[in-house]
Amino acid sequence: VRGGRLWCALWVAHLLWSKCSSYPQAQNVTWKSTNFKTVLVWEPKPSVDYSYTVELSPVGGNAQRIAYCIRSSQTMCDLSTAMTDPKACYVADVLSQPPQGATSDLSEFPHKTSPKFCPYHDTELDRPKFTLEVSKGIATLNVTDSPTAIVSGQHLQTLRDVFSEHLHYRVTYWKNKSTGKKTSDYNTSMINVTGLDQGESYCFQVQAYIPSRTYGKQLGDLSHAQCSRDENETILEVYSPAVIISAIILILLLTGIIITVTVVCCKKKAAKAEKKGVV
Ligand SMILES: *[C@@H]1O[C@H](CO)[C@@H](O)[C@H](O)[C@H]1NC(C)=O
Ligand SMILES: *[C@@H]1O[C@H](CO)[C@@H](O)[C@H](O)[C@H]1NC(C)=O
Ligand SMILES: *[C@@H]1O[C@H](CO)[C@@H](O)[C@H](O)[C@H]1NC(C)=O
Ligand SMILES: *[C@@H]1O[C@H](CO)[C@@H](O)[C@H](O)[C@H]1NC(C)=O
Ligand SMILES: *[C@@H]1O[C@H](CO)[C@@H](O)[C@H](O)[C@H]1NC(C)=O
Repeated sequence: VRGGRLWCALWVAHLLWSKCSSYPQAQNVTWKSTNFKTVLVWEPKPSVDYSYTVELSPVGGNAQRIAYCIRSSQTMCDLSTAMTDPKACYVADVLSQPPQGATSDLSEFPHKTSPKFCPYHDTELDRPKFTLEVSKGIATLNVTDSPTAIVSGQHLQTLRDVFSEHLHYRVTYWKNKSTGKKTSDYNTSMINVTGLDQGESYCFQVQAYIPSRTYGKQLGDLSHAQCSRDENETILEVYSPAVIISAIILILLLTGIIITVTVVCCKKKAAKAEKKGVV
């Protein structure tokens, strides 16, 4: 009789297990992170029969369920605010669970563990914004340190707040009329690029640069290019030939009109004077 019960228990366990393992395991669990806004994404979209729950663990620490990613039918979870220490490394688990409201007797669910992610070393750096002024062969770039998703008090911390002196900027610049590019690195956000040829138009692009990171993760996205005005622009370069020709024609026309009017007036006056003279 005992053996029969044991066998029965095993059979029930087997049924439950096969029901459980009918939830597909999450696949392709990856991190998408820019300026410390960090989202975990995975596949496939769940059917109505199951859902996903996300657990985040600092490496060597305890797993924490993410309140807004419990039994969800989404395939992404924003973990920016849950990663309270940007210098820590994390792994996340995506559990396949019964849908919201449904119950299950099981305590183990299929799960997939993400690769390790260390925001300070791995988050991508968005393209910066900057203002440009050029005078006497020196270009002054005022780069705005981009805000991150890290909240500190009432404010979002900037890249400078997080990386401090480890945040550098790489400036790529070239003469507008040529293709040869130069780069220079700077450890401040106010940048003077010196040694430019006066009277030339230059174009500039800026990207965040963190030399202390491993090669391949050091450079951020390139900003849009900004070009200085050519300081010695001649009239021919500023205005197109059509505009210049139109201006000349206009001047000729005006001169013609003035001459005509003057001549007609003078003739009339002369005629009047003659008439008076006659009377
Ligand atoms: C995971 O990614 C691979 C390659 O990018 C793709 O072929 C596969 O279909 C993906 N898996 C799912 C479940 O979408
Ligand atoms: C640089 O730009 C910021 C705004 O992005 C401005 O507050 C700051 O005064 C500028 N610095 C200089 C020296 O112009
Ligand atoms: C920037 O670099 C210069 C030398 O190139 C150094 O003297 C200065 O201390 C550095 N500034 C910071 C904030 O690291
Ligand atoms: C840039 O040059 C201006 C004057 O041309 C100077 O006042 C300023 O201190 C310089 N800034 C840096 C960061 O070298
Ligand atoms: C730079 O060159 C491009 C074409 O190569 C031109 O469209 C642009 O107006 C130029 N900018 C300046 C400031 O000269």
